[in-house]
Amino acid sequence: MALVPPMVLLMITHACPKYCVCQNLSESLGTLCPSKGLLFVPLDIDRSTVELRLGGNYILRITQQDFANMTDLVDLTLSRNTISYIQPFSFGDLETLRSLHLDNNRLMELGPDDLRGLVNLQHLIMNNNQLGRIHDKAFEDLAPSLEDLDLSYNNLVSLPWDSVRQMINLHQLSLDHNLLDFIPEGTFTDLERLARLDLTSNRLQKLPPDPIFARAQDSMILTTPYAPQLSLSLGGNPLHCNCEMLWLRRLERDDDLETCASPPALKGRYFWNVKEEEFLCQPPLITQHTHRMLVLEGQTASLRCEATGDPSPTIHWISPDDRLLGNTSRTAVYSNGTLSITITTSKDYGTFTCIAANVAGESTASVEVSIIHVLCPAVFSLLFRGKGALRSPLHC
Ligand SMILES: *[C@@H]1O[C@H](CO)[C@@H](O)[C@H](O)[C@H]1NC(C)=O
Ligand SMILES: *[C@@H]1O[C@H](CO)[C@@H](O)[C@H](O)[C@H]1NC(C)=O
Ligand SMILES: *[C@@H]1O[C@H](CO)[C@@H](O)[C@H](O)[C@H]1NC(C)=O
Ligand SMILES: *[C@@H]1O[C@H](CO)[C@@H](O)[C@H](O)[C@H]1NC(C)=O
Repeated sequence: MALVPPMVLLMITHACPKYCVCQNLSESLGTLCPSKGLLFVPLDIDRSTVELRLGGNYILRITQQDFANMTDLVDLTLSRNTISYIQPFSFGDLETLRSLHLDNNRLMELGPDDLRGLVNLQHLIMNNNQLGRIHDKAFEDLAPSLEDLDLSYNNLVSLPWDSVRQMINLHQLSLDHNLLDFIPEGTFTDLERLARLDLTSNRLQKLPPDPIFARAQDSMILTTPYAPQLSLSLGGNPLHCNCEMLWLRRLERDDDLETCASPPALKGRYFWNVKEEEFLCQPPLITQHTHRMLVLEGQTASLRCEATGDPSPTIHWISPDDRLLGNTSRTAVYSNGTLSITITTSKDYGTFTCIAANVAGESTASVEVSIIHVLCPAVFSLLFRGKGALRSPLHC
């Protein structure tokens, strides 16, 4: 057999995968394999391809070999497959990729390195998956370059909000039809180019006030000439119409379908018909608290403090020596307001103060704690027969 001439070798390395169509238009190679019944990404794709279309196949998983060395790839379409797993670093060589379509697949989560290396990505389209969890670091590499992020129709309860905050080139953010119930304040502040924010059909009771929402008004005054008008969609959320949402009501817009889900008096009312003076908050009222407590030194003391109010008050505890108590190795403040001191010492003797606070005000209650030295069991049992709180630390 004669040696294979160099010309043929070249043709083999540039062979088009079976079932695919390869186009070499204006010196950039496109590899088109849509709806060909593929079960995996063909191994013989030319590594210099610029556009790769693999939509409408039955690809189950993405592995590290699939796109290795495709350093010219700009456009990758994997829509409408059955992808449920991305091996970490699978896109690691795709430094020039601008557009990644992964919509209509079966992804349930994104790990910290699943999208690693996509430092120039502008369009990330992942709607219609089953995403329930996105790791805090999943968007780390692509956040600064991203212009379009579509995560609609997933099961997201939360998002890596710190990464969203860094998406300063974002134009469009589609988060509709998820289970989002909270957006931290400041998330959108630096997104000056944002022109469309879709939050329709989530579980949001409120939206954090943010200067960018001034751009969502019908009669927007262009204070920053380059900032676009913002299209904001918020319908289909169970809005809680208290004083915290007054800022939104004060925006000049009236063509949306938002309704109030609570408080009970406003349930079902069309948001934009509720009068400003009906957006009310209630200051905290402490409904239950421990009044006094006797505790054996070294034992655990749980001090209760419960409060109502709108919005729900947060509970803080102040120690007898005037320190704000938080979670430490010895103390824990639970969300139900209970302060738990795990190993009490004689220093815990005195008056603890429970403070319930919300935007409408605060309310306080005192709890007397008496610590009984372990070596005084007789005194302890005596006290528990009804003598009440001790007035000073007890030494036997
Ligand atoms: C595409 O065209 C360029 C320039 O014309 C050439 O160098 C390259 O080998 C071609 N690629 C394929 C796969 O034919
Ligand atoms: C990628 O390039 C490296 C180094 O040139 C090579 O060893 C490796 O086999 C290539 N991988 C693929 C999948 O082409
Ligand atoms: C303290 O820890 C508990 C769980 O151990 C948690 O529920 C609570 O939110 C924490 N409190 C603060 C103030 O971080
Ligand atoms: C508050 O929560 C803690 C931890 O979940 C629990 O141990 C405690 O019994 C709760 N207290 C009340 C009054 O519900």
